[in-house]
Amino acid sequence: MSEFVPITAPARQRQQASIGQPVKRRDGVAKVTGAATYAADNHPKDMLHAVMAVATIANGRVRALDVAAAKAHPGVVEVMTPENRPALAKNPDDRDNPFMFRLDLLQSDRVRYANQPIAVVIAETFEAATEGAALLAPRYDVEPAQLDMHADSEAFVPEAVGPGAPAESHVGDIDAGLAQGSHRVDSTYETPAQYHNPMEPHAVVAAWEGDKLIVDTPSQAMTIARGRLAGLFGIDADDVLIRSPYLGGGFGCKGALMSPQVLGILAAKMVGRPVKLVPTRPQMYGPLGHRAPTSQTLRLGMDDAGKLTALSHHARTTSSMFDEFFEPSANISHTLYASLAISTTHDAVRVHTGTPMFMRGPGEASGSVALESAIDEAAHACGMDPLAFRLANYADVEPISGKPFSSKRLYDCYAQGAERFGWAKRVLAPRSMRDENGLLVGWGLGTATFPVIMFEAEARAIIRADGTGVMETGAQDMGQGAWTALAQIAADSLKLELDQTVFRAGTSDLPDGGVAGGSGHTATVGNAIDAAGRNAIARLIDMAVADTDSPLHGLAADQVEARWGRLQAVDDGARSEGYADILRRAGLRELEGHGRGRADADVGERYAMHAHGAVFAEVKVDPDLGQMRVTRMVGAFAAGRVINPRMVESQFFGGMIWGLGFALHEKAETDPRTGRIMNANLGEYHVPTNADVANIEALIVNEDDPHVNVLGIKGVGEIAVTGTAGAIANAVWHATSKRVRRFPIGVADMI
Ligand code: MOS
Repeated sequence: MSEFVPITAPARQRQQASIGQPVKRRDGVAKVTGAATYAADNHPKDMLHAVMAVATIANGRVRALDVAAAKAHPGVVEVMTPENRPALAKNPDDRDNPFMFRLDLLQSDRVRYANQPIAVVIAETFEAATEGAALLAPRYDVEPAQLDMHADSEAFVPEAVGPGAPAESHVGDIDAGLAQGSHRVDSTYETPAQYHNPMEPHAVVAAWEGDKLIVDTPSQAMTIARGRLAGLFGIDADDVLIRSPYLGGGFGCKGALMSPQVLGILAAKMVGRPVKLVPTRPQMYGPLGHRAPTSQTLRLGMDDAGKLTALSHHARTTSSMFDEFFEPSANISHTLYASLAISTTHDAVRVHTGTPMFMRGPGEASGSVALESAIDEAAHACGMDPLAFRLANYADVEPISGKPFSSKRLYDCYAQGAERFGWAKRVLAPRSMRDENGLLVGWGLGTATFPVIMFEAEARAIIRADGTGVMETGAQDMGQGAWTALAQIAADSLKLELDQTVFRAGTSDLPDGGVAGGSGHTATVGNAIDAAGRNAIARLIDMAVADTDSPLHGLAADQVEARWGRLQAVDDGARSEGYADILRRAGLRELEGHGRGRADADVGERYAMHAHGAVFAEVKVDPDLGQMRVTRMVGAFAAGRVINPRMVESQFFGGMIWGLGFALHEKAETDPRTGRIMNANLGEYHVPTNADVANIEALIVNEDDPHVNVLGIKGVGEIAVTGTAGAIANAVWHATSKRVRRFPIGVADMI
């Protein structure tokens, strides 16, 4: 193994050939023609089908299962229950890492939430397994379920709301700040439980070859999942192969290995044959994560000039009865607006649901809805235009930490977005704009922000005898464009054209690709790739200058540069030779380089690092019927270096559409009698469709950030979901003068 090139090497200006190009999605044709192999498309020889039986109560015990009836059904091979489930090397209730959630692997008859797996039926066909699961006819000892997040008597303050995220933060004296303000906002906003609903559920096809395990399953974090499986089954991580070339969507819920995936693997172990297990859509609502509901109280004080004297943000959320994940909603208020005093606090109530987890801007998305609504209320209280109010409270340093921003072009986002949207024509008073058909028109604004997050990743670069390149890393593409953007970085790092560079990703036997999450995948893996490519080129240069037969012989290494498949002298372009010639003379079939990407803790100490944006929304409301449509949205975002503007625009569209869904559609309804989700399907759990999405524009605001990482990448995956829902709610208020404080917005909010 060669030395890793540290990514803290000084950034340098380079001619970038692939980076910055609007390359089309390289996996696009495979996906739309059905050639892409998703997990459930795999059918190894002798494969059996497994179907989960899940609890229909939210709290209690399974008293009886009719295993005999299920086993008697033709085609049923085995029924796995807590009685006979193969032993595990580790307790599924142990977790030693924030990406390792406590699992429900039939460890007892205890039911902790509705839809918890209680048995697995394994059969020759999917139909037989489904019928077998129905024949189990479970009987329960039912106990009362705690479902109410407003049970104050049950609320507690968690130790932390995430890794390195304390539940409370304060600067200044919040009570003095509130007392000092001549205007006040004191409002509580409610956001509902939401479920990820990726197109492909957490399907698993598992095959054991002795103690070796091969798993086809979607994963945003294969290396961590591989470690989790190795621990649970007491085998070497190197004996686990996870293949996850296409994820069918992730949105956070594939960031950690989940119970149904492990149950499929246990089933394969039990019967000694490959097994496929695909959760049904309704089964996605419980054991596979969700965004917890929140209740957020914002108390703001403003002086006569419209400057914030106090910003207090309290967020209540829920976690499960048996594990910890806390939606850190209030932390959005650390970053955006300057205020004499800021106070953020969280508390939580345990309820009988599956454990919530990362979902599309976890904390930022739900927190932004409340903060941006409150800021709009504050602007109105001060008689100010919402954009003017935000500019009056623009943060020049990060308010909670006092640190300078590594870069912040939010002002340009406001300016370019407002210009494009036509914000200057907005009438200040609500309910005072109409269109030609008499519909009420409202214009609203929301500020977007998302932190720069990096995990750790590695990459291996190979220059081959024919002068072409290979880049290998276990990166994961859940649809965001990693196969494309990372390949562009790979080609540039090796100074090759994109079509001269093979990009390999999507399996766990490649160098650790880290986590496709936190909007940090391109930054993390991209910098690993860049370092690996530069490492390979550096080794090639060392070979050339030491080789008496090379035209570059005798030059200092820093007097040689790589240019599109050739090395040449920096000050004499005539002295050059191709990669292939150097390798051929050395008798090498290939040459490797290695690189790592990770956050530089020192930079994080010195700078606050965030992407920013501004979202402008127009709604039209029928004043008689209360029908509302979002007719137009313009978002402008500054997020550091853009690798591929086509992919980035697509990410911004996706984020704004999530925001639209947050504002208008997404809500899981719990039956208060049973604790079951009543709309656990895509027919009734609404997400935006094409008909809901009118005119969207996403502007990319240029931003050079010399600090975040060598490539200057901030991340674009989640930022556009922040800002958007608040902008829509604020537009509804502007159209109707009705303030939305409970999401999603409904007809009742309009009339
Ligand atoms: Mo994202 S919620 O970090 O996958």
